Amino acid sequence: MNILVTGGAGYIGSHTCVQLLGAGHDIVILDNFCNSQADVISRVEKITGKKVKLYVGDIRDKKVLEKIFCENQVDAVIHFAGLKSVSESVKNPLTYFDNNVAGTVALCQAMQKFNVRRLIFSSSATVYGNSSEAPYDESMPTGNVCNPYGRTKYFIEEILKDIFAADPGWNITILRYFNPIGAHDSSLLGEEPCGVPNNIMPYISQVAAKKLPLLTVFGNDYDTPDGTCIRDYIHVVDLANGHLKALEKMCDSGNGLNIYNLGTGKGYSVLELISAFEKASGQKINYKIGARRAGDLPIVFADTKKAEKELGFRAKFGIEKMCTDTWNWQKNN
Ligand code: NAD
Ligand code: UD1
Repeated sequence: MNILVTGGAGYIGSHTCVQLLGAGHDIVILDNFCNSQADVISRVEKITGKKVKLYVGDIRDKKVLEKIFCENQVDAVIHFAGLKSVSESVKNPLTYFDNNVAGTVALCQAMQKFNVRRLIFSSSATVYGNSSEAPYDESMPTGNVCNPYGRTKYFIEEILKDIFAADPGWNITILRYFNPIGAHDSSLLGEEPCGVPNNIMPYISQVAAKKLPLLTVFGNDYDTPDGTCIRDYIHVVDLANGHLKALEKMCDSGNGLNIYNLGTGKGYSVLELISAFEKASGQKINYKIGARRAGDLPIVFADTKKAEKELGFRAKFGIEKMCTDTWNWQKNN
């Protein structure tokens, strides 16, 4: 199949492009490089030995979208393009609603116009908000989200449900990611945050590489075994493979709107993650215990049964490989 991958130069998008090409699909990438580097494309080509068709442009730009759909027979769209910093979204909510929500609306309008109605969307476990407790399953309520970034994901999910209700000819899969970490084991692809990272894994690996002096653990007084927060970390290559499974299911089983968690179902505390990283890298992580971060939930992990049963998806890689691959990427880049 020919897949349009928006945000295909980004962290999760680039790993998914590698898996798509490896599975024999063709891809067209649309990215404006607002949070990625152009050389990612040649790295994807180097890993796969295949050529990638790239359009440099914005998902909000109707002209670019129309050009892509006119010039390519697109069978399905995997939509990663979006801004993802929680702290930035609190400062500039309109930028986030414009880029993520209006961008998705523009994309869906173009898809509708060109009769391309298969869409896989990158959502987040953040949509579960704080109304339920882990393990989170897909039938739990969503929406009680505490920041604008998370609300863009929630609003987009609701928009997609409305699009499907109005026209059941659409085939839409919403994937709710838990905490993607790790890197491609070639060390050619990985997460490259601009500025000081917000997320824990790039922070830890930059402390290990002595690019940052000290990690602050946000709170050790939670009601968890060691007092630090628990998250469901998933290797980015496993996550990428989840998209392939979703694509296969979408093409095999007709129209529908489906929602799946992509996680491992197992949680690790912040201290456990630090210790796993120290073991994998042989580096000591300099850290101190600090105050809680506003909005953090104590325990977040996925119920993975639905993805296992309906997609045949199960994460393969454990925390050791997630840490080793992150460290190799950090050292080599
Ligand atoms: P990323 O920032 O590495 O990749 C996003 C890509 O989209 C970048 O290459 C960026 O340049 C591009 N982009 C952004 N806005 C664009 C626009 N208007 N037009 C064209 N290109 C645009 O992020 P990622 O970690 O790969 O995340 C991919 C998707 O998954 C995002 O939608 C994100 O919100 C979602 N997600 C990520 C995580 C995570 O922890 N990384 C968790 C849950 C959901
Ligand atoms: C965060 C976002 C979530 C987003 C996800 C992926 C918040 C509240 N949530 O999830 O919306 O989808 O990133 O982008 O921001 N930690 C530290 N020290 C640090 C950084 C993090 O102790 O310097 C802890 C956090 O308290 C948390 C865990 O590490 O318990 C993971 O944090 P992070 O990587 O930011 O992911 P989430 O908070 O789960």
